Amino acid sequence: MSNSIKLAILGLGTVGTGVINLINDNLDELKRRSGRDIIITEVGTRRQRDDIDTSITQNSDLMAIAASDNVDIVIEVIGGTTLAKDVIMQAIKNGKHVVTANKALLAEHGNEIFAFAEENNVHVAYEAAVAGGIPIIKVMREALAANKIDWLAGIINGTGNFIMTEMRDKGRPFADVLEEAQELGYAEADPTFDVEGIDAAHKLALLASIAFGIPLQFDKVYCEGITGITLQDVNYAEELGYRIKHLGFAVRRDGQGNSEDAGVELRVHPTLIPQDALLANVNGVKNAVLVNSHPLGQTLYCGDGAGAGATASAVMADVMDLVRVLGSKSGDEQNSSEKNNHGHHVPHLAFIPEQLSDTPILRAEQMITGYYLRVHAYDSPGVLADITRILSDAGINIDAILQKPAHKVGQVPVIILTLPVVESQMNLAIEKIEKLDTITDKVVRIRLDELA
Ligand code: HSE
Repeated sequence: MSNSIKLAILGLGTVGTGVINLINDNLDELKRRSGRDIIITEVGTRRQRDDIDTSITQNSDLMAIAASDNVDIVIEVIGGTTLAKDVIMQAIKNGKHVVTANKALLAEHGNEIFAFAEENNVHVAYEAAVAGGIPIIKVMREALAANKIDWLAGIINGTGNFIMTEMRDKGRPFADVLEEAQELGYAEADPTFDVEGIDAAHKLALLASIAFGIPLQFDKVYCEGITGITLQDVNYAEELGYRIKHLGFAVRRDGQGNSEDAGVELRVHPTLIPQDALLANVNGVKNAVLVNSHPLGQTLYCGDGAGAGATASAVMADVMDLVRVLGSKSGDEQNSSEKNNHGHHVPHLAFIPEQLSDTPILRAEQMITGYYLRVHAYDSPGVLADITRILSDAGINIDAILQKPAHKVGQVPVIILTLPVVESQMNLAIEKIEKLDTITDKVVRIRLDELA
């Protein structure tokens, strides 16, 4: 019997290479913590690499690796939702535990994958899929297990945060910063996923499910990216004491007596938050997740959300958990219930599968947030009164107003901050404002949250 834990790494890009480097660098630590030798037996790569130790089998047939007798844990870091899904299902069918960093795959197909894993008495671990190196999955599934989570707000896309930080600090244009993020290896292969908020929406779907015990519902996440954010709005926000960050929110709403409005808000969008909020000061590629739970209160988790080292750290934390699940016997010697030693592992979505709830996900029009509005108006008497009347008629409470000197001849930008309002009410008010003869452009709106 071999006492080693045998790993297969599928994909030798930034993350796969980072995992190999981590194992080489920290071999002794890993052994001292787990009591086992952790060895890579196979790697899945399209082309032969001469920088890989000759004891490791290189194979371009990922499906064969996922079924190999020489593997206990399959690490999937190829990305994508087609081949990655096939190899994960193959690994599960063959009784292998899986570690994946693939948020897109889990957000879209996680319900099916987790159910199949449970049927086959194996685990699919995914710490690296959300917020890179921050152990937020472990924290929410285990450390906060006694709490009721009311809401969470997170900076969960490093590329987006890097871009917003550079734009604000250095006044650099968006495209220039994006190119640098790609060079640094932060951005997804398709940067639209980062800048349009899709990557953050994938991660939010995962966080919300483990926060509230609901099935994964990526298709219901309201998703807005950062491509429409201008330096002008970044600067006005700063002038008013706020900072624009791209955030994901998962919020439990009780409907305030109206059961139709009870449910969960799932949304990612640029958001004005107070400059002195801790989240406002999480800069560069850093991620952070703020969790408001009862009875604990607010806790903040912060660290590197992208890059080889951070992601490899999360992948190997999952491997170390699975080593304990695998116990002291080699994979070949275990029966299937030993492989799924529940005494050492929590359910995939934190709650036991039969207890997942059908709490509805609220529609965009039902969401409640504060707003930053930028309205461009002709500089004539009564304009401001017209705008504020429309807002007050709609029951919208104004928190601050800033009128800037005319930047085009005869036109003034008016900046308004509001208290939280139901989105449908704000939509009607903006429609009315845009119909005023004195209004020259579409109203720019960005959500605002005091994070209180
Ligand atoms: N593109 C992602 C980000 C990488 O920028 O956060 C980690 O998921």
